[in-house]
Amino acid sequence: MSNQELFKKVLSHAKEYGFVFPSSEIYDGLSAVYDYGQQGVALKKNLRDYWWKAMVQLNDNIVGLDAAILMHPTTWKASGHVDAFNDPLIDNKDSKKRYRADVLVEDYVGKLDTKIEKEVKKAAKRFGDAFDKEQFISTNPRVVGYKEKGDAILKRLGKSLEKEDLADVKALIEELEIVCPVSGSKNWTEVKQFNLMFGTKLGASAESATELYLRPETAQGIFVNFLNVQKTGRMKLPFGIAQTGKAFRNEIVARQFIFRMREFEQMEMQFFISPGTQKEWYAYWKETRLKWHHSLGLGTDNYRFHDHEKLAHYADAACDIEFRFPFGFKELEGIHSRTDFDLSSHEEYSGKKLQYFDPERQENYVPYVLETSIGLDRLFLAVFSNSLQEETLEDGSSRTVLRLPAVVAPTKVAVLPLVKKDGLPDIAKSFVEELKWDMTVAYDEKDAVGRRYRRQDALGTPFCITVDHQTLEDQTVTLRHRDSMEQERLTLAQAKAQINEAVSFQNWLRAL
Ligand code: GAP
Repeated sequence: MSNQELFKKVLSHAKEYGFVFPSSEIYDGLSAVYDYGQQGVALKKNLRDYWWKAMVQLNDNIVGLDAAILMHPTTWKASGHVDAFNDPLIDNKDSKKRYRADVLVEDYVGKLDTKIEKEVKKAAKRFGDAFDKEQFISTNPRVVGYKEKGDAILKRLGKSLEKEDLADVKALIEELEIVCPVSGSKNWTEVKQFNLMFGTKLGASAESATELYLRPETAQGIFVNFLNVQKTGRMKLPFGIAQTGKAFRNEIVARQFIFRMREFEQMEMQFFISPGTQKEWYAYWKETRLKWHHSLGLGTDNYRFHDHEKLAHYADAACDIEFRFPFGFKELEGIHSRTDFDLSSHEEYSGKKLQYFDPERQENYVPYVLETSIGLDRLFLAVFSNSLQEETLEDGSSRTVLRLPAVVAPTKVAVLPLVKKDGLPDIAKSFVEELKWDMTVAYDEKDAVGRRYRRQDALGTPFCITVDHQTLEDQTVTLRHRDSMEQERLTLAQAKAQINEAVSFQNWLRAL
């Protein structure tokens, strides 16, 4: 399956099996807004839990918070979002389509990356076992050329954006001869800045209403509660506050399914540290977060770091953990050294001290902050798209299987009576009653058992327990494994123990 075909399949599979639906679909949907269905909500919750357990439960110096979406409007002045939370937009005069100017350039560089990957694949085929990928990438003239060109373009883009030199961003688009994907023309407008925050109003009458914003990041809820948590939790530096919740951005171009949405969920952690220690904590959180991603088992080759050329207004260092989505390597998580920008700015705007008394140094200061910030929907897309596979079986037939990491699969086991008679459904239902206290269980008696297995494969259920006539005699069942399709005969207790082992958070997170 090509990447494009895979992505199409991801969209249709997510809908067909109850993972993700377009929002308000009966009214033809709302652009870049999605609803999670009965399977999707469970997968999303499990991913959120996987993050929460690793960040909060396993770290005795990180606590949770659930701040409101609506915040005092001055928050966003202090955070810099009113003045600087902009994206550069450009319109194509022929198609009337609007684009993010920086994304047009990044997509151009993405095409150079695809060319590099193609060269590498070709060479790997040609040289076989003797192929040294690193050496090839650093010496092959064509690959080196693509790489140098891409790096130079991104460097120039970063500089122009940092200096707010929008004319140069347009010049770059023209020099690269980037065309509108819809009209195919190079007839572009000037590049303009566009603020991404959604405005709303608080209050009953138009005259007295206060202008508010829907939060564009969850982080500010943590900053304004820094002292509340520090004092009531008697927290000592270094310590972290973690939060998951909705964020809203009026994205100029929202596309690629749930990759870039207008309403999405973030999982963020602000780690408060003493000034001067930010470099070592930055390195620590980069490594820790990458390990966490690797623990999900999607393949270490599918992740890479990308250092930011253009730093956000609050950061002194920043990078992304990128994931190989079906449309290429893209940002999955951001790690930002935010200095004391946010707390100092909130001090200034609120007139309230947001300082920490350091008992060792015997002084007050504004802590520095290390942030880890991941989009839950992007994580969902990474896991879902990586897990979806079309397999050709030994007998020539094919199956669609969603090889979700068992720890986050919506349903851990499906209990299936072999036939709908001879008392098998009653026994199967009694097993469901027994298992459901420990794990998520589905029951299915419709269709032939082979078709039911296929359905559970497509839903990502890692195990099926089948109740058959032998169960009547000796109480044993067959445990079928989704990935290998192997079956083994076990007692229910043995099957339950095996499933518990396979889905245990401890086993998955132990490597951290
Ligand atoms: N507090 C820092 C912050 O918000 P960000 O890089 O703008 O940083 C963090 O966002 C993460 O949130 C991203 O890495 C991405 O996973 C997710 N994210 C950002 N915008 C998104 C969108 N429009 N749709 C889905 N996820 C998004």
